[in-house]
Amino acid sequence: MILLVIGSGGREHAIAAALVKHPAVAKLYAIPGNGGIAEIAECVPDIKATELVKIREFALAHGVNFAIPAADDPLVAGAVDLLENAGIPCFGPGKAAAAIEGSKVFSKALMQKYNIPTAAFADFSEPNAALAYVEQASTFPLVIKADGLALGKGVIIAPDKPAALAAVRDMMETKKFGASGNSIVIEEFLTGPEVSVLSFTDGKTIVPMVASTDHKRAKDGDGGLNTGGMGTIAPSPYYTREIAARCMEEIFLPTIRAMQAEGCPFKGCLYFGLMLTAQGPKVIEYNCRFGDPEAQVVLPLLDSELLDIFLAVQAGTLDRCPVRWKPGAAACVVIASGGYPEKYQTGFPITFGALGEAFIYHAGTKRAADGTAVTAGGRVLNVCAMGADLPQALQKAYAAAADICFEGAFYRKDIGKKALEAAR
Ligand code: AMP
Ligand code: GLY
Repeated sequence: MILLVIGSGGREHAIAAALVKHPAVAKLYAIPGNGGIAEIAECVPDIKATELVKIREFALAHGVNFAIPAADDPLVAGAVDLLENAGIPCFGPGKAAAAIEGSKVFSKALMQKYNIPTAAFADFSEPNAALAYVEQASTFPLVIKADGLALGKGVIIAPDKPAALAAVRDMMETKKFGASGNSIVIEEFLTGPEVSVLSFTDGKTIVPMVASTDHKRAKDGDGGLNTGGMGTIAPSPYYTREIAARCMEEIFLPTIRAMQAEGCPFKGCLYFGLMLTAQGPKVIEYNCRFGDPEAQVVLPLLDSELLDIFLAVQAGTLDRCPVRWKPGAAACVVIASGGYPEKYQTGFPITFGALGEAFIYHAGTKRAADGTAVTAGGRVLNVCAMGADLPQALQKAYAAAADICFEGAFYRKDIGKKALEAAR
């Protein structure tokens, strides 16, 4: 088979690494890919992940027979519809189903209609109505969310009324997130541990993966700004068997049934961002794709062939496809460029030290003319390791991370710490 992965981060590197070991894979392309993916696939850096027509032409010209659009933008823009209409089957939801991530107004209305537990909310397409709602609100913080994709930055937790009013104005009047802020959702602030549950689903059957926990803030102790994710652990110690059973009954099955009932069955990886509140698990967000950096800890624990699962999802035969997991745990530490998630410089050469039992997925790197890896993004490398338990996995990942250098490099030193304390 000739495969095409669409995207350029550590998630896409992890997916590509899991696919390429399958004996049926003759060739793997990545659009645009990155400096690490280039070691196992042919990258096409001149086409962007959002240039869907160019991607279709490339795939047709190169005989691609299965494609994996792994990033949110191409999925929400309809990459799967475009490729499948051209005769190239894909792993991923079509445009209508990808709205579960692409529109918070859509996903909140879905949860309300089908009684799926989530934060109480109101949605607005007109700034004055939103401002009036905030004016009469008596409980803070309030959570203000842009309807559309906003690079993970479209969620503002406003501690008081002035901050909430400012957030509404930024989104709806100043258009800080462009058209993504044409509509907004204002919701209740929830508290509790956060868990990410990625799942395989063909629209009828749903198979949750090992639960993971992301660390979204830039600095130790959950300080600093929100980022795309600074590290992950799996399995998440917060996610007990009882909670898993409850999520299946109250959230996972109702969600895929709701999507069927709405006429847009979801096929692909459905990501449940959950908060384990005192009232039970609630949905914070859905994503229509693997999490990044969640995929980097979940996929190494998969003990079945990823490509076989992808093909079964596409064919609608997931009920007959075994999905097995390895025992033990995995950890991922993200090494980022100095200044990330704000301004940072790129183009610095990277030196890799002793990896030991750790392994690396590249997130933001490219190959310089002489073949050396240089930094090319905010999140640069994902240093990952597996172990018999979480402390072992973390120890191996941190030992390798300490041996990697580039100018301005930084990483959080407390990945998994809170979860381990909670587990004790
Ligand atoms: P998102 O971009 O939707 O992943 O949201 C970013 C982060 O904002 C989440 O990971 C949560 O930590 C936080 N968040 C979103 N919605 C809520 C909420 N209703 N209550 C508390 N925190 C929230
Ligand atoms: N790590 C969070 C996300 O992928 O949305």
